[in-house]
Amino acid sequence: MKSFQDPIVAVVIGSNRGIGLALVRQLLVNPMVDVVYAGCRDPGFACDLDDLVKTYGTRVVPMAVDVTNSESIEDLANRLEFDGAHPNLIVNCAGLLHDRDLQPEKRLEDVTLGGLRRSFDINSIGPVLLMKAVKQLIPNQQRVVIANLSARVGSLSDNRLGGWYGYRASKAAQNMFTRNIAIELGRRNKKLVCVGLHPGTVDTDLSRPFQRSVRTQSLLSADTSAKRLLDVIDSLSPEESGGFYAYDGSRIPW
Ligand SMILES: NC(=O)c1ccc[n+]([C@@H]2O[C@H](COP(=O)([O-])OP(=O)(O)OC[C@H]3O[C@@H](n4cnc5c(N)ncnc54)[C@H](OP(=O)(O)O)[C@@H]3O)[C@@H](O)[C@H]2O)c1
Repeated sequence: MKSFQDPIVAVVIGSNRGIGLALVRQLLVNPMVDVVYAGCRDPGFACDLDDLVKTYGTRVVPMAVDVTNSESIEDLANRLEFDGAHPNLIVNCAGLLHDRDLQPEKRLEDVTLGGLRRSFDINSIGPVLLMKAVKQLIPNQQRVVIANLSARVGSLSDNRLGGWYGYRASKAAQNMFTRNIAIELGRRNKKLVCVGLHPGTVDTDLSRPFQRSVRTQSLLSADTSAKRLLDVIDSLSPEESGGFYAYDGSRIPW
């Protein structure tokens, strides 16, 4: 993380598994990183984060954060404030494509109000509420990177296949929020970078049911994706803030 002149105070949300967990692991081996606030819905069941606490002690702080619950987001902000922590790297990995009650919609007939609401709650509204809560704690004079994990399928201009109504639309909305935040926070911190990042097609629970159609060489491990994302984070300049980038650094049209 050579682009950061100051010690890194990181916040990673969705940190108990998948890409978020891989990011936390890689941040902790980096001596530039002072502390990682690792937000996840249920730290009591986050065994992999527990293992990191055993290894790294107070450099990793598991926090209960559900991005659909404003109180838990406020609790995170209050803890940061109490610790005198001013995050200069925020990566929001919380995301929903499918779960027991929700499958990506192939056609209009599959769309449900509940499914759309949940997709938007987690993928679009969560990242904004998080930034609202921590805005005042973000340094104004130093390099800051805010990255929302988006998805290439959230690009309007890239959409040629259709389907996945809730996921695509909620990531597209997230992209607009990301750009808005980049503009607002960029006014007071000229060194701030706020972007959407596409992690690639990554071997996690999120992509597992859909991996049959993915060529093996195109499927990234969570560790590889996290490494590439950290390289992109390190390479982006404030002039590139407000954009949408893939794990290989290429720009994706909104
Ligand atoms: N994997 C891919 O191929 C791929 C491709 C494009 C984009 N992405 C994006 O990359 C991000 C990470 O995905 P992943 O592959 O690592 O998925 P994953 O393994 O399914 O992990 C999703 C993470 O989001 C968390 N999460 C879900 N709802 C949440 C909520 N309400 N509040 C806080 N955290 C919540 C989950 O926590 P729980 O364990 O509590 O559910 C989990 O930590 C997502 O935003 C996804 O859309 C992934």
